[in-house]
Amino acid sequence: MEEQFTLFPIDTEFEAPKDRTASDKMAFVSFRELVPEITDTGYLTHAIVSYPAKFIPQVVRYAINTYTKEEDWIIDPFAGSGTVGVEAYLCKRNAVLLDLNLLLNHIMPLKVHRGKERLRKELMLKLLDGMQENGKHCFIPAWSNVQYWYAPEILELLSQYWGYIYSIEQDVYSAIIKTALLKVSKRFSNTEHRTPKLARSKRKLAAIETLLSENWKDQLIEIVYNHSLKTLGNINDFVMQTQHHQNQVEFQGGIDSSYVAVPRECDALITSPPYLQAQEYIRSTKMDLYWLGHTDEEIKELSRLEIPYRKADRVIQTETLDKVRDKLTRKDLHNRLDSYFCHTINALENAMNQLKPNAATCIFVGNPRIDGIEVELWRILTEYFSERCFLFEKVYEDRIKTRQLFGVRKNKNPDGMKSEFLLILRKANV
Ligand SMILES: C[S@@+](CC[C@H](N)C(=O)[O-])C[C@H]1O[C@@H](n2cnc3c(N)ncnc32)[C@H](O)[C@@H]1O
Repeated sequence: MEEQFTLFPIDTEFEAPKDRTASDKMAFVSFRELVPEITDTGYLTHAIVSYPAKFIPQVVRYAINTYTKEEDWIIDPFAGSGTVGVEAYLCKRNAVLLDLNLLLNHIMPLKVHRGKERLRKELMLKLLDGMQENGKHCFIPAWSNVQYWYAPEILELLSQYWGYIYSIEQDVYSAIIKTALLKVSKRFSNTEHRTPKLARSKRKLAAIETLLSENWKDQLIEIVYNHSLKTLGNINDFVMQTQHHQNQVEFQGGIDSSYVAVPRECDALITSPPYLQAQEYIRSTKMDLYWLGHTDEEIKELSRLEIPYRKADRVIQTETLDKVRDKLTRKDLHNRLDSYFCHTINALENAMNQLKPNAATCIFVGNPRIDGIEVELWRILTEYFSERCFLFEKVYEDRIKTRQLFGVRKNKNPDGMKSEFLLILRKANV
C-alpha cells in the first residue's frame, strides 16, 4: 500500500500548520529568489512573442530542477506560448506541448530553434531590404472585419509586407520577420495594442490619425528592423547555450487537450491551466492568427472549445468545490464553474493518464474568486486526483507577482489573486 497523505483541514491557515507532516508539505516561497540564475523573465527566446498569462520561467525551472532529471519527457497540456518547452530544452529535457491556440505552432520553431549554427545578420538584412523594395505581392487576411481595424493606407502597406514574406522561402528568417510584422500589425491597427483583447478606442484612433500625419512608414519599418534583429540575436544566444543539446520538443497547437490522443508516455507534467474568469486566449491573439493565415471559421471553432466558455459534459464534485457551488447563487457563474472544472480536469486527467508510475505533476494555479467566493484550485485538484491514484506531495505558495499578463499590464491579475500555488501530486507506483 502506498502512503496516503491527509490533506490539511479546509480551514487550516498556511501560517500555522498543526503538525510536522503538514508543514513539510507546504512552503512559502518566492520562485524568483529560488531561481536567482534567471534574472530576466524574457531572457533568450521567452519574449519573442507576447502572450497573455505566461508562466514566469523561474517557476518552470524550479519544477524541472526539483522534479525531473536529464532526458525526461515533460508534458504541458496548456502550453500557451511554450515556456515549458524552452525551459525543458535549456535543461536537456524533452517536452510535449499541447494547446488549443494555433499560435503555438508558429512560435515554437523559433523559441526552440534546434539549429547548431548562428543565424546570419546579413541574410536577415537582405530579406528586410527586399521586403521594403518589393511592392508586387499582397496578402489580405481571411478576416471579414479587417477594414474595421486599419486605416486603408496602413492596411495596404502591411498587406504588401506580409505578401512579400509569404512569397519567399518559409524558413527561420522569414519566421523571425513575421514576429516583427505581428508586432507592427497590432501597433499600427485601430486596436489598443497594450490590452490583449481587440478594442477600438477614441484614444487609439486619434493616435493613428497623428501617426498618419507623420513619417509613419519610417516608424513602422524601423520597428520591423529592430524587432527582427533583436529576435535574431536572442535566437543566436539560445543556439550558443544549447549547441550540444539533442533533445526534442514536440508541439501541437489547435487541439483540445481534453480529448486529444496524448502522443507518448511522459515522466512529469508541468502546466498552468487557464484562468477561471476574464481571459480569452483565442480572442486575445486572433489578430495574430489572421495575419498568420488562419481563417474566420478556424478561429471561431477554436473559440468554441476554449475553457471555460463551453458547456460541461460532467459535474466535478469534491468537498471544497461543492462548498463553493452551494454558496454561488448566480446561474451563469454556476455554469462557468462547472464548465471550468469539467474541461480543465478532463485535459489534466487526459495528460496525467499518460504519465509513468511515480511521475510528478506540477500544476501552477491561483486562488481565484467567483462572485466574491474564493476558489481554492490547488485544494480542489488535490481532492479530485487523490481519489484517482495521485498522492498529494507538496504545495508551494508564492505571494504574487509571478505572471506577466500582457505587455504593460505586468502582474495585474484578472482574477484578483494574492498568491499563486505550485501544486505537486505524485502518480502512485502501481
Ligand atoms: C495560462 S495559459 C498557459 C500559458 C503558458 N503556461 C505560457 O507560459 O505561455 C492557459 C492556456 O490554456 C489554453 N487552453 C484553453 N482551453 C484549452 C483546451 N480546451 N485545450 C487546450 N488548451 C486550452 C489557452 O489557449 C492558454 O494558452
